[in-house]
Amino acid sequence: MDKSSLEARRILLIIGGGIAAYKCLDLIRRLRERGASVRAIMTGAAHEFVTPLSVSSLTGEKVFTDLFDLTDEAEMGHIELSRDADLLLVAPATADLMARMAGGLANDLATTALLATDKPVLIAPAMNVRMWEHAATQRNIATLAQDGISFVGPNEGDMACGEFGPGRMAEPMEIVGAVEAHFGEAAFAADQPLKGLKALVTSGPTHEPIDPVRYIANRSSGKQGHAIAAALATLGAETVLVAGPTATPDPAGVSVRHVETADEMLAACEAALPADIAICAAAVADWRVEASAEQKMKKKNGEDGLHLKLKQNPDILATLSALKGRKRPRLVVGFAAETEKVIEHATDKRMRKGCDWIVANDVSPATGIMGGDDNLVHIITAEGAEDWPRASKRDVARRLAHRVADHFRKGKSAT
Ligand code: CTP
Repeated sequence: MDKSSLEARRILLIIGGGIAAYKCLDLIRRLRERGASVRAIMTGAAHEFVTPLSVSSLTGEKVFTDLFDLTDEAEMGHIELSRDADLLLVAPATADLMARMAGGLANDLATTALLATDKPVLIAPAMNVRMWEHAATQRNIATLAQDGISFVGPNEGDMACGEFGPGRMAEPMEIVGAVEAHFGEAAFAADQPLKGLKALVTSGPTHEPIDPVRYIANRSSGKQGHAIAAALATLGAETVLVAGPTATPDPAGVSVRHVETADEMLAACEAALPADIAICAAAVADWRVEASAEQKMKKKNGEDGLHLKLKQNPDILATLSALKGRKRPRLVVGFAAETEKVIEHATDKRMRKGCDWIVANDVSPATGIMGGDDNLVHIITAEGAEDWPRASKRDVARRLAHRVADHFRKGKSAT
């Protein structure tokens, strides 16, 4: 165990009112053992599960509880309290606390601090399995994730209420691991290993018009491609994202070019060159309607169906890979969504498209990957295949950005 892994890190721990609150006492001890200083805010309900005295004995600091406590305000305002930390950690994050966070409420000190902060927030949810699975909680989780909040857990297992399933708060040591990973990631990003490099990412589907109101599309959400653009930008790359029509919001710190069709996507990519890195994550439509109608097409009585003549779209990945000299990005990465013989097909695709790496995933329905938030990928390079563990699309994106940074670092040291 590295006793100083969190040296001088300031953590504001927000303790929600759940049975798992007792685990916070051990959590505080473990964080402090590693050099972190911990200040705690307790919600009103948290008092039912642990006492402020136990919490303050372990943090060695006064415990903050009441938004309207004038003594607190005289010593430290709630804005200062939330900004004077490197990380806000919410444990246990109850269904109620998560709902209030997702709604942007500020009706007690805990939620006010969370709303007033400009610091990263990590939450460890804990609740009954039915509450976790409820549509309202799932909606709140999606909102919080979109707001940039990170999660650790919950785990699956026997619950205090006698039921079984996801909802148990992560164990203190898992939370410590997530806190350490957060700071490790932050330190890596602070080094800006991709600074000075230009990156181009395609993402989302394309829409190919049939007439002015109809089009051919696919189900791509753009989540993975957008997350990759964000991760490359976090590591310092000057990033252009060429995005097809998608509901996924534009990532921060990235220049986004919105396009509709494959032709427009190719033109936007060519306009963004030169680039050092090109990652083609878009689900480009393979075909377009050869001659889309200028006016809305009308049904004709007695007509038996409609024949559309389709023409193949340009292959953006293959086009970028085939560029010559300095115009060709130094690293071109494609994606391969396969339903069988994943590695074999992806290896073959790498050769056919002429790209350097392929990120391959198994999208057969049983995996539940298509359209979901997780991904399970293999990276195919000239050296072979790397199997990566199943992770959120955001974590896959981070890991890919790290892998890209590693590639350029090694390249540099080789020259
Ligand atoms: N791609 C592209 N332009 C296209 C089609 C695909 O840039 N017109 C890129 C995608 O962004 C992805 C990779 O190529 O990086 C996927 O290859 P593709 O041939 O489309 O794979 P599949 O749709 O799986 O096709 P198949 O397996 O039938 O070859």
